[in-house]
Amino acid sequence: MNAPVSRRRLLAQLSGALMGLLTLAAGLPAIGFLLSPLRRRSGEAQWVSLGLLEEFAGAIGPVRADFDYEARSGYRIQTVSNSVWVVAGNGNGQVPRVFSKTCTHLACNVSWKDDQQLFVCPCHGGKFGRDGAVVAGPPPEPLTVIESRVEEGELQIRLG
Ligand code: FES
Repeated sequence: MNAPVSRRRLLAQLSGALMGLLTLAAGLPAIGFLLSPLRRRSGEAQWVSLGLLEEFAGAIGPVRADFDYEARSGYRIQTVSNSVWVVAGNGNGQVPRVFSKTCTHLACNVSWKDDQQLFVCPCHGGKFGRDGAVVAGPPPEPLTVIESRVEEGELQIRLG
């Protein structure tokens, strides 16, 4: 048979349970904050502006566009600088095509050469046409096309 619980002991247990619930309720937002980086999807899209569309639309040759974006690694956010190649639509009203600067052979950075009218990789002689297609050298694939859009007059690219 159980011993009767004293009033004092019952009150102590009830207040202990109440304090536990209050502590848990007060701590939930903090726990959520601490775990939030783990809940974020790593594949979340990030659109980054390259500048006004009109800056690229009239260009005759490909234009290198430099940009900064925020890269997140767990709790750490750092600003990273990068660049891409923007090829205007020849005045046909199309959104310019945007190519990665990274050679598809061994990841050196390609540059546009006006005298050759080609993207040229300095490492092993890879060459790409204005449309990003391989025209010479060892690269196995065309330059990577980066998804782009125009929002409020700005040319934007999608990262991630
Ligand atoms: S890295 Fe570009 S050709 Fe090899």
